[in-house]
Amino acid sequence: MGVSLRAYGQLLARYLKHQWSRFALLVMLVCSSIGLVESLQNIGATVERLQELFDQKSTIVDGPSVAIPAGRPLTLEFDSVSFSYTEGKPVLKNVSFQLPAGRVLGLLGCTGGGKTTIARLLFRLYDPTDGCIMLDGIDIKQATLAELRQRVAYVTQDVQLFQASVRDNITFFDRSIPDARILEVIEALGLAEWYRILGPVSTSCDRQDWRSCSHE
Ligand SMILES: Nc1ncnc2c1ncn2[C@@H]1O[C@H](COP(=O)(O)OP(=O)(O)O)[C@@H](O)[C@H]1O
Ligand SMILES: [Mg+2]
Repeated sequence: MGVSLRAYGQLLARYLKHQWSRFALLVMLVCSSIGLVESLQNIGATVERLQELFDQKSTIVDGPSVAIPAGRPLTLEFDSVSFSYTEGKPVLKNVSFQLPAGRVLGLLGCTGGGKTTIARLLFRLYDPTDGCIMLDGIDIKQATLAELRQRVAYVTQDVQLFQASVRDNITFFDRSIPDARILEVIEALGLAEWYRILGPVSTSCDRQDWRSCSHE
C-alpha cells in the first residue's frame, strides 16, 4: 500500500510538473463555474423577492370617486381619528380638529407625538383605524387616490432634487408639458426672481444648474 501511494504521489508530481498550466486552468474554470452558479442563484433569489414585492397589494385602495372642489381652499376636519402602525400600540387616539379653509395650522409636539402621522393620514399613505378625515365635508376615502392627491400636496422636510434640469425636476421628466406651463408654475411658486438669475432669459427650462442655484 505504502509503495503504491508513493508511486501515485510521484506520478501526480510529474503530472503537475508537466501539466501545471492545464491543471491551473482547470482549477480556475472550476472556481469560476462555482462563482457563476452562485451568481445565478443570487439573481434567481432576487427576482423571486422582486416578484413577491410586485405581487403585494396595497390595502389603501381607491374610493368610488367624488368631486373634491377645485380652485379654492378647502376646510379640513379630523373627526375622532385613531391610528396605530402596529396593533395594540396606538399613535393617535380620538384626534378631532377643524381647520377652516384658507387658515394655516402649525402642529407642535414632541418627537414621536404623531405630527407626521397626521400628514400621512391626510395624504392617505395610511388609513385611520377609526374615525374619519374630511375635506369640505367629504370623507377622503370616497375619492380615488388620484382625485385626493390632486387636491392635497405633501411637502416633506427633505428636499429631493434630481441631477437634472429645472424642467425635469418640475415635470418628473414629462416632455409633453410645454415650457409656458412650467414658467407659470415657477411664477406661482414665487420663484420667478430665482429663475431669472439662473441666466439670460430664455424660453427653455432646460437648464442643468438647478442644484447649484438651489443652494444660493
Ligand atoms: N412607519 C412606521 N412604522 C411604525 N411606527 C412608526 C412609523 N412611523 C412612525 N412610527 C411611530 O409612530 C409614532 C409617531 O411618529 P411620528 O408621526 O413620526 O411623530 P412626529 O412626527 O410627531 O415626530 C412614533 O412612536 C414613531 O416611532
Ligand atoms: Mg415628524
